[in-house]
Amino acid sequence: MTENDFIPKQYSEEIKHGEVSWSAPSNIALIKYWGKLENQIPANPSLSFTLNNCKTITKLTFSKLEKPTSEFQVDVFFENEKNESFRPKILQFFKRIEKYLPFLRDYKFSIETANTFPHSSGIASSASGMAALSLCLMEVEKMLNPEMTLKHFHQKASFLARLGSGSACRSIKGEIVVWGKHEQIRESSDLYGTAYSSQVHENFKNFQDTILLIDKGEKQVSSSVGHNLMNNHPFAQQRFAQAHENLRKLKVVLENGDLKSFINIVESEALTLHAMMMTSNPYFLLMKPNTLEVINKVFEFRKSRGLHLCFTLDAGANVHLLYPENEKQQIEEFIEAELVAYCQNRHYIRDGIGSGAKKL
Ligand code: DP6
Repeated sequence: MTENDFIPKQYSEEIKHGEVSWSAPSNIALIKYWGKLENQIPANPSLSFTLNNCKTITKLTFSKLEKPTSEFQVDVFFENEKNESFRPKILQFFKRIEKYLPFLRDYKFSIETANTFPHSSGIASSASGMAALSLCLMEVEKMLNPEMTLKHFHQKASFLARLGSGSACRSIKGEIVVWGKHEQIRESSDLYGTAYSSQVHENFKNFQDTILLIDKGEKQVSSSVGHNLMNNHPFAQQRFAQAHENLRKLKVVLENGDLKSFINIVESEALTLHAMMMTSNPYFLLMKPNTLEVINKVFEFRKSRGLHLCFTLDAGANVHLLYPENEKQQIEEFIEAELVAYCQNRHYIRDGIGSGAKKL
């Protein structure tokens, strides 16, 4: 597959107006995407668990214009209110994907979007938001070209989502998603995410993710600035090679169910991500004191109780706590008794692996 395979040929149908809705989940990377080339081509492969409860719900309404417009006609509503602040990002996205969706200039669009998680939670909504919008746009393209295969629909939705925000391409389909070419994962591609199709051990079925909202403030570093830190980073090449190696090891672990090795890979990836930020120039320290308190408590808990609780981090202070379903009860008691106190206003979100986006 190349980019050009996503440029459509002539559409067979004509549609005057319509309405489509999709919900798309957030995802949590175990092997981290950090560093990119132009157009969100990742510098290394990544792998994520798809979440179930944290999602964006988007409705796209469209009506055909008399003649194609020179400026995109888009209104954006966030949680039922007209929202001007998201518009520039969406216009930029439309510009980027226009080549692949030539109908964008033929219609007036209205985008109504809402998240199931609080906006100011420090959970990025760009992954679920761009995925939901891409799926809605693909739904329109499918009406214009009903012959489209389901495989192409999903691949192209992920391809478009990637152009909106890299990690969004992992929020389309599948419980575990890989994005970025890896020599041992046949279906992997730099252009889109694919549902992980190798063997997965029972231990990872319905894996749990409790998200501790340590700091709900604005992101200190935008993801574009963050990824750019990997250009000319003294450790960049070693890091990209390490991601390949960690994904190779994780593939083995996902198959054999070895939770100890799983923890080792996942926590090392999280700390490496933060180490990359701390050793770039300019440098950033995105963990807060309470992030470290939680991490130390997790280490102690594991040592004393022998249960398989581990953490991962995004580019921020919040902590994702990952654990198997059959240890849920004891681990959740511990989280409530010992860890929730470190969250801002004691806020946290219970989530777990989900299967991907849904048409509404
Ligand atoms: C730390 O996908 O937000 O969460 O492509 O610039 O939109 P852009 O970046 P984004 O980066 C996410 C980085 C991460 C790790 C990950 O999700 O793999």
